[in-house]
Amino acid sequence: MDLKGRNFLTLKDFTPEEITYLIDLSAEVKEKKKKGIPVDHYKGKNVALIFEKDSTRTRCAFEVAAHDMGMGTTYLGPTGSQMGKKESIEDTARVLGRMYDGIEYRGFGQDIVEELAKYAGVPVWNGLTNEYHPTQMLADMLTIRENFGKLKGLKLVYMGDARYNMGNSLMVACSKLGLDFVACTTKEYFPNEELVETCRGYAAQSGATITLTEDVKEGTKDADVIYTDVWVSMGEPDEVWEKRIKELSPYKVTKEVMANAKETAIFLHCLPAFHDLKTKIGKEMGERFGITDMEVTDEVFESAQSKVFDEAENRMHTIKAVMMATLEES
Ligand code: CP
Ligand code: NVA
Repeated sequence: MDLKGRNFLTLKDFTPEEITYLIDLSAEVKEKKKKGIPVDHYKGKNVALIFEKDSTRTRCAFEVAAHDMGMGTTYLGPTGSQMGKKESIEDTARVLGRMYDGIEYRGFGQDIVEELAKYAGVPVWNGLTNEYHPTQMLADMLTIRENFGKLKGLKLVYMGDARYNMGNSLMVACSKLGLDFVACTTKEYFPNEELVETCRGYAAQSGATITLTEDVKEGTKDADVIYTDVWVSMGEPDEVWEKRIKELSPYKVTKEVMANAKETAIFLHCLPAFHDLKTKIGKEMGERFGITDMEVTDEVFESAQSKVFDEAENRMHTIKAVMMATLEES
C-alpha cells in the first residue's frame, strides 16, 4: 500500500483497503509506542499546524506524533500569521509548501483545506472542517476494533447534529467499512441527501446499511456503538444554543438509551463533551436552561461502557499513522 504524497482531506477519497491499512498502521505504531520502540525515521522534516479553531486533542496529537517521528512542528493559531487577512490561502500554501514537508489545517470550509492542498505541493491533512473530521474517524474505528475485534456488521448510532462534521464523517467511515450507520435525530439534523446518496453507494459495496430515524427506541435498539457530539459546534453563533437544547434534548445519551443498545455496547464521543457543569459554557447553559448536562449524562460518560479516553488517546496513534503513510522517510 503506497499513500506517499497523498492528501488526507476526507475519507471519501480513500478506498476501504486504504482506510484499513491506516487503521492497521495505527495499531502497529500504538504497540511500538507502548514498547518504547522508536519510529523516528523522519528526522529533519517539519510540519506546519494551522488552527483557525481551538483544539486540545488534535493539536497535541499532531505535535506529540511529529516529535515521536523526529520531526519539528510550527503551530499557527487563529491570530499571528498573515493567512486569510493579508495573504490568500493559495499564496500561503505555496509559501508553507517551500518550507514544510506536510501541513495540517483545522478551520472552516472544506473548500479551504482543498485549496491549500491544491497549491501546497506537500501532503495536507484535514484536522477538522465544518464538513469533515477524517483523522477522528481513524481513532474511532481503531477504538471500535479494539473493543469488538472487527468492524464489519456492527451497528453504530449517531445521536445529535448529524448534518455537521461528525455525523457526515461517521456516515462515510461506516458505509465504507461495512458498519450499519444510524442517524438518530430530528429530520432537520439529518445529513444532507446528496451525501446520504453517495454513502448509500459505498454501502452497496461494503454491505453496510444507512438509516435515518427520529425514533430513539427503534434507532438505538441492539446498537453496538452509541456516539454523540456537542450540539453546537465551533464557529456557530451563540444564538443557536436555545434552539439546539430544545430540539436535541430528546436525543441525549442516557442510561435508558444505553440499556436499549446491546449489553456489550460502548459509548463514544469525539470530545470535548458537556456531561456536567464543570466548564464555562456548561455552567452558563446550566444557569440559563436549568440543565445539568447536554448531549450525554454524566452517568453514561463516566460508566464502564464509555471508551472516550481510549478514543482520545487513539487520536495520537492514528494521526501518527497518517503522517507516516503520506510522508517519505528521511
Ligand atoms: N475531538 C477533537 O478534535 O478534539 P479537539 O477539538 O480538542 O482537537
Ligand atoms: N462538531 C464539533 C467537533 C469537535 C471535535 C465541532 O466542530 O466543534
